[in-house]
Amino acid sequence: MKKKICIVGVSGYVSEKLIHLISKHKHVDEISLVSSSMAGKKLFDVYPSMRDYFSDNIRIDEIDFKKINSHDLVFLCVPHNESSKLVDKITTKIIDLSRDYRLTKTYGLPEIYKEEIRNSELVANPGCYATACILAVYPIRHLVSEVIFHGISGYSGAGRMASQKFDYENNIIAYKLTDHHHVAEIKKVLDLDISFVPHVVDVFSGIMITAILYLKEAIDIPTIKKQYTEFYRNSFTEPVSQIPSVKEVVNTPLCKVYVHDEQQINKLIVVSVIDNLMKGSASQAIENMNLMFGFPTNTALSDY
Ligand SMILES: NC(=O)c1ccc[n+]([C@@H]2O[C@H](COP(=O)([O-])OP(=O)(O)OC[C@H]3O[C@@H](n4cnc5c(N)ncnc54)[C@H](OP(=O)(O)O)[C@@H]3O)[C@@H](O)[C@H]2O)c1
Repeated sequence: MKKKICIVGVSGYVSEKLIHLISKHKHVDEISLVSSSMAGKKLFDVYPSMRDYFSDNIRIDEIDFKKINSHDLVFLCVPHNESSKLVDKITTKIIDLSRDYRLTKTYGLPEIYKEEIRNSELVANPGCYATACILAVYPIRHLVSEVIFHGISGYSGAGRMASQKFDYENNIIAYKLTDHHHVAEIKKVLDLDISFVPHVVDVFSGIMITAILYLKEAIDIPTIKKQYTEFYRNSFTEPVSQIPSVKEVVNTPLCKVYVHDEQQINKLIVVSVIDNLMKGSASQAIENMNLMFGFPTNTALSDY
């Protein structure tokens, strides 16, 4: 049976991407949009390019929980501390894109928590940096004593409003050097001592993580690479043999992970890349929805 989907938060970067992906989902036949700032407008007024993907110009609603609860699943594409004001009033399945439930509810990283996601009513979609950091290390976490992550992100990672406040043009900005809010979720999943240093650059979307892994003991690289290949079989994470660039994954649901061939006295370098608006948020949310409904995980995500 086809599904009815509601998206709360329309004017943001993530919801724009999600609306586009949902338009291609063959098991969805009704989409409702709820906005705090755009209610009363129509989808093509806000996003004229959506004419290419939708036959109907959907009217954007104000929040009405009776209507929201008539859907099979709700995506919450709102800032942190806003999702938690809504969740208790929603009685249907939820995928929350904010960080409000990442430490307490099912963590929506399909490479690791597929079975839990299938059986959950509320899935917390992971943070964008956290996705790329965790996927860079997870298959060999038991061999690692400590990791230092250097993160580089496009400015869309901060959201539409926040990204307008900073001087990104021709610039590189380091920030939150010791207390980025994704550290807690990375630590919780990897259960390792980690440091994470984020930077924003003058690129719209894309994240590159360069991870320095301190190994408990020297292990040969082919054994390590085999563990990545086996762990990520049949997923959107691809171990690759050349250093990947962000351009290779922008507008795709992929994470590419590269293990560098030279190990320096128990130190290993791993590079991972994702699009923060895809694997870092919207396409990963679709993966989670597919799992929650028992659809093949690549539904609406194979066309890139
Ligand atoms: N950007 C990324 O790369 C990324 C990656 C992973 C996760 N996330 C998370 O996904 C969520 C959406 O991110 P985003 O980048 O799309 O953010 P955004 O561009 O700032 O959009 C957030 C949207 O939330 C709605 N909203 C509802 N209540 C709000 C309030 N009190 N203040 C401001 N906005 C409010 C607004 O839509 P309406 O005006 O239509 O109501 C707003 O456009 C956030 O929780 C974010 O942390 C973002």
